[in-house]
Amino acid sequence: MDNVKKIPVILDGDPGHDDAIAWTIANVSDRLEIRAVTTVGGNQTVEKTTYNARRIAALLGITAPVAKGNPGPLMSKPMTAGTFHGETGLDGPKLPEPDRPLCELGAVELMAKVLRESEDPVTIFSTGAQTNVAALLLAHPELKEKIGCISIMGGGIQYGNWVPAAEFNILVDPEAAKTVFDSGVPVQMCGLDVTEKALVMPEDFERIRHVGNEVSRIVAEWLDFFMIVHREMGYEGAPLHDPNAVLSYLYPEIYDIREMHVDVETSGLFTRGCTVGNYGMIPNRGVLEKNNARVVMNVDREKFVDLLVEAVKKYDGREVKL
Ligand code: RIB
Ligand code: CA
Repeated sequence: MDNVKKIPVILDGDPGHDDAIAWTIANVSDRLEIRAVTTVGGNQTVEKTTYNARRIAALLGITAPVAKGNPGPLMSKPMTAGTFHGETGLDGPKLPEPDRPLCELGAVELMAKVLRESEDPVTIFSTGAQTNVAALLLAHPELKEKIGCISIMGGGIQYGNWVPAAEFNILVDPEAAKTVFDSGVPVQMCGLDVTEKALVMPEDFERIRHVGNEVSRIVAEWLDFFMIVHREMGYEGAPLHDPNAVLSYLYPEIYDIREMHVDVETSGLFTRGCTVGNYGMIPNRGVLEKNNARVVMNVDREKFVDLLVEAVKKYDGREVKL
């Protein structure tokens, strides 16, 4: 793979246990080069997700700049999800303190700088609210052509999670999500349709723990924490949402991906944040509306877990600062 050009990527999220695992995977892909890490509020406040992002970068040896996003969504009040991710947003194993200063630029300006300076199209992995990505598209429309793909974890064609009609990342900032889906930039959407099938079982936690390096131990302990509330909710395994945004981009062959037109509801009393997809059952709509997203609907769960295990194995022998 040495002579193959790496794809420049931006990691944008609200770490968050599953964001952290998605970044752990992206960081050891020999096909990706992380050019920036940017944060949004969501799982916790943007202050806390930014501190977490900097600690994850220190743990994984990510040397790309980390920049903080805006304190809240484009038009609504900030929401947080401490229930699932704890008071810090990344409760569980001890992590190193940040080993680099926070980038002086804000998230949107760092994203714009990366796009401007990149010779090749940049892929953005968005695993939180799409506030930064939307602000980038609105403030710098001339840079749209420098974005190869926006691969998101967000939405759900068939159901929501935070409210019946809407998934958390989209509900935090529906206007931002609508801006992204309507932008004309290629979007790949991993919604709950696939991420709730990407269950990591407790026996898989042990496979990861037994890899035996520091990062695999921490990933297993992130899963331990993430499973606490999910077990109480009746889940047999941890629905590992965010890594699908990275793995479905790198390994589409283990997924079922459909071209769709997706609209984002921004005004419904009970449906605000709903991602409405022409799931192919409504031919007229398919004719009237140009498809605007590749929507990921299913995954080979065992292969998903195998790829997660393979990724943490790549940290064998790597210096990990704790
Ligand atoms: O609904 C799941 C999503 O919300 C994941 O990205 C999780 O990290 C939270 O941001
Ligand atoms: Ca997330």
